[in-house]
Amino acid sequence: MTKLLLRALAGETLPVPPIWMMRQAGRYLAEYRATRERAGDFLSLCYNPDLAAEVTLQPIRRFGFDAAILFADILLIPQALGLHLAFEAGEGPRLSTVTTEADLARLKPLDTIHDTLSPIYETVRILSRELPRDTTLIGFAGAPWTVATYMIAGRGTPDQGPAHALKSANRPLFEALLHRITEATIEYLSQQVQAGAEVIKIFDSWAGSLEGPDFDAYSLAPARQITEALKARHPGLPVIAFPRGAGTRYEGAHAATGADCVAIDDGVGPEWAAAHVQRDGCVQGNLASRHLVTGGPALVEETRRVVRAFANGPHIFNLGHGITPDASIENVQIMIDTVRGA
Ligand code: CP3
Repeated sequence: MTKLLLRALAGETLPVPPIWMMRQAGRYLAEYRATRERAGDFLSLCYNPDLAAEVTLQPIRRFGFDAAILFADILLIPQALGLHLAFEAGEGPRLSTVTTEADLARLKPLDTIHDTLSPIYETVRILSRELPRDTTLIGFAGAPWTVATYMIAGRGTPDQGPAHALKSANRPLFEALLHRITEATIEYLSQQVQAGAEVIKIFDSWAGSLEGPDFDAYSLAPARQITEALKARHPGLPVIAFPRGAGTRYEGAHAATGADCVAIDDGVGPEWAAAHVQRDGCVQGNLASRHLVTGGPALVEETRRVVRAFANGPHIFNLGHGITPDASIENVQIMIDTVRGA
């Protein structure tokens, strides 16, 4: 096995960690903005296999990252289940909602989701042909809780209030919705793997707002269900779980999710994560993305700190969350050079 990312995921401690960035195909790149313009809007870009493959490849050509992540979005699953979805310029996503049993009953049956999602599998096929030999292709989906927060509220929310409210008011409906998303996600990810995705990442961006037993039941348990189902169908498939905002609850997340790697945000220090999480397997993270905006000596110092803290076990270098549109390309290159010791 030569690909560095796959070696780290298999538990190998490497002299230089593999590196990629969440949202590496994005608005901080002029070439992304140009291709998006050609596509028209964000969703048209997601559903155009040639252009989606093109923006996936852009950061690989420019920076030589060790992994490429499929260009798509976690909200394509709600759309495939029949919800209306739009991205308003500068406003984020807007969806029709699921808040009643009738809404749930109106969702499309599982075996029809591929009618909507097949262009995404075509993007994966193009990428698995066109990526450089040493670059690993990562497929992904949102975790059921995070996807449900958008389906219930119809938009992004600072505290996921509407989803928490439905969970208290009608727990059976909430759980039935999570179950539907879980099933759809397994089918969607399985098709990505069949098309050529070598690793799967599950993004639970809003895991941090789940408290007490809800965190186990609605973040960790669905991630484990998805992971186990995928590994049963695709033996040896590596999975990365990202329960963002888990804090000290990152400890034990390998066992609780069944994932090969736990991705860590910058809410915990790398030294703490090395002692409490990396002990159980590969970790990914966790430079604060603001350093790619602010740069300077702190960027180099903090990059070195993350590399050093995780140097004694399997590690994939990444940010704690996605790169922001105001980040500078020079700072990205400085981060990469620092990680690779150039
Ligand atoms: O990481 C990558 O480069 C791969 C592609 C990717 C996107 N979204 C492209 C995107 C991935 C893995 C995602 C995941 C995603 N999408 C998450 C989970 C990760 C996270 O960031 O917490 C979430 C919550 C979403 C939902 C979503 N998509 C929102 C809330 C928004 C609007 C906010 C924003 O940044 O504009 C998006 C849009 C989006 N998804 C963009 C990109 C590149 C920006 C769209 C654009 O204007 O071009």
